[in-house]
Amino acid sequence: MGFPEIRMRRLRSSPSIRRLVRQTTLSVDDLVYPLFVCEGMGVKKPIKAMTDCFHFSPDTVAAEAAEVASLGIPAVLLFGLASKKDDVGSEAWAERGAVQRAIKEIKKLVPELLVITDVCLCAYTESGHCGVLRRSSLVARDPAHESRGTSHEARIDNDSTCELLAKTALSHAQAGADIVAPSDMMDGRVSYIRQCLEKNGFNETAVMAYSAKYASAFYGPFRDVADSSPAFGDRKSYQMDPVNANQAMAEIELDIEEGADIVMVKPALCFLDIIHRAKRRFDCPVAAYNVSGEYMMLNAAAQAGLLDRDAAMMEVLYSIKRAGADIIITYFAKAAARELKTKLK
Ligand code: PBG
Repeated sequence: MGFPEIRMRRLRSSPSIRRLVRQTTLSVDDLVYPLFVCEGMGVKKPIKAMTDCFHFSPDTVAAEAAEVASLGIPAVLLFGLASKKDDVGSEAWAERGAVQRAIKEIKKLVPELLVITDVCLCAYTESGHCGVLRRSSLVARDPAHESRGTSHEARIDNDSTCELLAKTALSHAQAGADIVAPSDMMDGRVSYIRQCLEKNGFNETAVMAYSAKYASAFYGPFRDVADSSPAFGDRKSYQMDPVNANQAMAEIELDIEEGADIVMVKPALCFLDIIHRAKRRFDCPVAAYNVSGEYMMLNAAAQAGLLDRDAAMMEVLYSIKRAGADIIITYFAKAAARELKTKLK
């Protein structure tokens, strides 16, 4: 070996020197914890498809939110479960809906905790699609048509869906949400929402847009939880094709132009390159959603004795951070907060 000797291991030789040269930091400040809200009182029902996750009613979700805040996590993301569904998803913007009531309960108990709300119609529509169907799609639901193979294209009416999304976002803002997060992938929805919020005096309510949301296979457990699987067809006519990258940059750019304060890439793990490119290209905060399938992959593998869940969890979260995410939405948030706390000792 020549001189000077290059020995990479010098900087790995002790815990302290490893800490000193760590390039990526992960803090509890980066995390957002998703919560599922349903109708009722006193409900805290374990979700079979997702380890350590529950359905909460508006009263019990507040206590959970207080625990989340006590761990130092700055924000929760609320998802609603509809008690009744219809063609247009009208429960999504009901003043006394589960999400709207949950926001109020949380804000009463832990005002400093940021409340972000998922804005979408898929949990509220009979079709399970993220928007309102055009008439032609309703025809396609007819079994006679299905047998002819015309049922696979779900035709969502973009602009009338945007109006309903804006209505939903406004109802969340009125209940006290700090940030609304449209996850539907309709064109122009950020602009509809921003304008509607401004018109009604909610200029301080921020928009976190699910900008580059892919038609991914990793939403499986979530759709079970929210009972939001499409009744027919799929989401490929509105969510992005997972093989595309440039289009993600165009989606993000448009959302920023339309007034998004935070942009998101979803899912995270198969799309670390997209997170990386987004962070390099745009100045606005980039969030990454570590989705239900990614969460359950680790849990299932750990359950089968194949890996150490917490070690794998931290590796995953650090990788998302290293790729460039400023914010990580993850079902691991509570476990990660605990892990980060013990590491500090
Ligand atoms: C609603 C929505 C979905 C998720 C977040 N918002 C489901 C979907 O698009 O099918 C997925 C979250 C997860 O898998 O953890 N549009």
